[in-house]
Amino acid sequence: MAQSLKLVNRTSVFRNLTEMWAEYMRRNSEKVIKTHKCLADIPGPSTVSFLTDIFCKRGLSRLHELQLEGKAKYGPVWKASFGPILTVHVADPSLIEQVLRQEGKHPIRSDLSSWKDYRQYRGHSYGLLTAEGEEWQQLRSILGKHMLKPKEVEAYSDVLNDVVGDLVQKIKYQRRQSPHVVKDIANEFYRFGLEGISSILFESRIGCLETTIPKETEKFIQSINIMFGKTLQTMAMPKFLHKIYPNPWRKFCESWDYMFAFAKGHIDHRMADIAEKLARGEKVEGKYLTYYLAQEKVPMKSVYANVTELLLSGVDTISSTLSWSLYELARHPKIQASLNQEIQDVLEGRDIATAADVAKMPLMKAVVKEVLRLYPVIPGNARVISDKDIQVGEYIIPKKTLITLCHYATSRDEKYFSNPDEFKPERWLKKDESHHPYASIPFGFGKRSCIGRRIAELEVYLALSRILTHFEVRPENPECLVKPMTRTILVPGKEINLQFLER
Ligand code: HEM
Repeated sequence: MAQSLKLVNRTSVFRNLTEMWAEYMRRNSEKVIKTHKCLADIPGPSTVSFLTDIFCKRGLSRLHELQLEGKAKYGPVWKASFGPILTVHVADPSLIEQVLRQEGKHPIRSDLSSWKDYRQYRGHSYGLLTAEGEEWQQLRSILGKHMLKPKEVEAYSDVLNDVVGDLVQKIKYQRRQSPHVVKDIANEFYRFGLEGISSILFESRIGCLETTIPKETEKFIQSINIMFGKTLQTMAMPKFLHKIYPNPWRKFCESWDYMFAFAKGHIDHRMADIAEKLARGEKVEGKYLTYYLAQEKVPMKSVYANVTELLLSGVDTISSTLSWSLYELARHPKIQASLNQEIQDVLEGRDIATAADVAKMPLMKAVVKEVLRLYPVIPGNARVISDKDIQVGEYIIPKKTLITLCHYATSRDEKYFSNPDEFKPERWLKKDESHHPYASIPFGFGKRSCIGRRIAELEVYLALSRILTHFEVRPENPECLVKPMTRTILVPGKEINLQFLER
């Protein structure tokens, strides 16, 4: 009797517990449904007002500022229709982290890009920037073996230092034309960027830093500028408008055509060199990337696409970073003097820094970090999570939604950086000052982050060390402020003119 009573009691306790658990789950799931808002609940400007901002108020070049305005008006998450594309903006480091941590095996940057449309239209292959899925994964692992390994990248120091030597000669030449001053320094750095990346890709020089620049090189640089200038416009225009208002799409395609042809010309030329050498029974030992890609049995069509994309990735990014670095150092003579001191202490009378030298320059690294915080080359990156709905803060974002990551807004947010608009490299050196790890991520994140990061950093450090060893840099006119402008990437809004005083 006592036994069976115990059993009844246990059974009813168990039943009660089960019911309580079920009730708890029911309430909680209701709460989940109630607390997680959906796409329709996300605030944002009406399509008309956003398009007016973009097209009538020069908004395309102010997209980075629209991030700040959007955040101030709607909070850290808002949505806007960019032409035919609805995009959810995320402008808080923790929320950006939340998106990126759910990006999956083959992250997608954006699946609606006019860059991809162009490749389909012309029947070109995709390069690493534009490829997706397994194709991207394969390219990434082939290129990563070369471009992400510190030792492999250090091997490019000598080649890059040759290019830096020519840059210094070019600055000397230019400052003789208008005493001490180099007008539009970004222009010199475009050429430097193209010469640097070409030397890595082809192991040969293409003459960008000579006093008379080859016409095709000039046209390649112009094509990059036009292509970047037209990228956002062609993305924001629904495809049917390409027929009614053909100019942007036509110019965009012409620029890409030229870039592909330029890369193909150089690749074919180098490949012919190799074939000749092999025919003569000579050994071919190429460190350069094009040769390496071909050796890895990457189809030639894909080599063309990859080299084109790598060439263009190495021009504006480097130019912008170096231009802003010198702009800020010229305006902050004390920081410039400390950096020069650091460089001279490490070089001990030598002129040319090596990869091992720049590794011993913490202020140099802090300066470049700070420059990229203030002027992130890619002010707004993106992700599309294609296989599942994801939670971002209080919202559930449906799969396949384009999510814009507002890096400019987070890196200029005073919640994460004190006096956010000031150039203060020392903030990266203070042990007691830490920053949210996703507040400034100029090279992106994770598997799809910048594959050229190590090359870019090395190139920028080597160039800055040599420039500061030779010159003290001052603004031509201290009153002349230069603001950034979006041209797909963030570039100086007007010319940066600097005085170079020989040391
Ligand atoms: C200061 C200079 C540079 C900055 C700030 C920069 C920044 C970035 C960023 C933010 C991304 C997107 C990352 C993401 O989506 O998470 C990216 C991707 C990429 N970058 Fe850079 N970049 C720089 C220089 C370079 C250079 C010199 C090269 C070529 C040598 C390069 C090649 C690439 C490529 C190929 C990708 C696409 C990677 C992929 O999709 O797997 N970048 N870069």
